[in-house]
Amino acid sequence: MKDVLLILGASGQIGNELTQSLRKIYGNERVIASDIREGNADMMNSGPFELINATDKNQILQIVQKYKVTQVYLLAAMLSATAEQHPQKAWNLNINSLLAVLDLAKEKHIKQIYWPSSIAVFGPTTPKQNTPQKSVMEPSTVYGISKLAGEFWCNYYHDKYGVDVRSLRYPGIISWKSKPGGGTTDYAVDIYFSALEESKYTCFLSENTRLPMMYMDDAVNATIQLMQTASHKIKERTAYNLSAISFTPKEIALEIKKHIPEFEILYKPDFRQKIADSWPQSISDSKAREDWNWQHQFDLSSMTKDILTNLKEQRSTLKL
Ligand code: SER
Repeated sequence: MKDVLLILGASGQIGNELTQSLRKIYGNERVIASDIREGNADMMNSGPFELINATDKNQILQIVQKYKVTQVYLLAAMLSATAEQHPQKAWNLNINSLLAVLDLAKEKHIKQIYWPSSIAVFGPTTPKQNTPQKSVMEPSTVYGISKLAGEFWCNYYHDKYGVDVRSLRYPGIISWKSKPGGGTTDYAVDIYFSALEESKYTCFLSENTRLPMMYMDDAVNATIQLMQTASHKIKERTAYNLSAISFTPKEIALEIKKHIPEFEILYKPDFRQKIADSWPQSISDSKAREDWNWQHQFDLSSMTKDILTNLKEQRSTLKL
């Protein structure tokens, strides 16, 4: 039987691009996009779309049965900065959606689950450089607490009920086709748009705040690769550390200046600084590289070139 995939949270930053990549691989009709709100035109026109509240197990089950879904990618979540403003709502969304999907797998309605974790599972007491797979984990944000609890729910359902659930601790994900919302690493996306529009950007983190980051293309590839790996090779059933690049606002600004010499960056740190300061600066992902041959492609310079080229092209098409 061929797999049918359901993406929950398909209109979000990662969901949007992951859905399009999965549609290319599995065929448009086999990748069901869903979200609590409609997606962009490409998403709505390229294949099936359903409105679903990801915390409502019955709604998910109906769609699973309607399309004979075998795999669920659960990407609906509230990110770190927004979660600090709405702690209870964030916990409910992030955890209840996961438990709903885990239960559907336990009850044998679906065979495989992807659910993203984050570097936010680490906290101020975690070693900051090359943070290992197993380390001190004392998250200080609601988002981090929900992701850490979620990881252990995944591990529990795998051990106790044999659920095939897989997860990655994403760093900040940088994209140009779709924007993130409510995260602490969002500055590294906004900066490219502002650089092209106004040649300046006011950053909400201080100039030397180093954080682990990754280009969207690498994040999508890692996700698909993890899901296509034979189950016995997946040794971590909490979530894998995943890493590509690490940079500061000052370093990304210097890289942008190579393409837009008049670009200027100003710094006005806000409450998000404390969140950023609680996270690692770089991550060791040797387990992912050993267990399923993970390799990233993009560094800061190739990513910047790719984003600026694509955004410039998009802007000139829109102006035509
Ligand atoms: N990018 C996320 C955030 O900033 C971290 O996983 O909230």
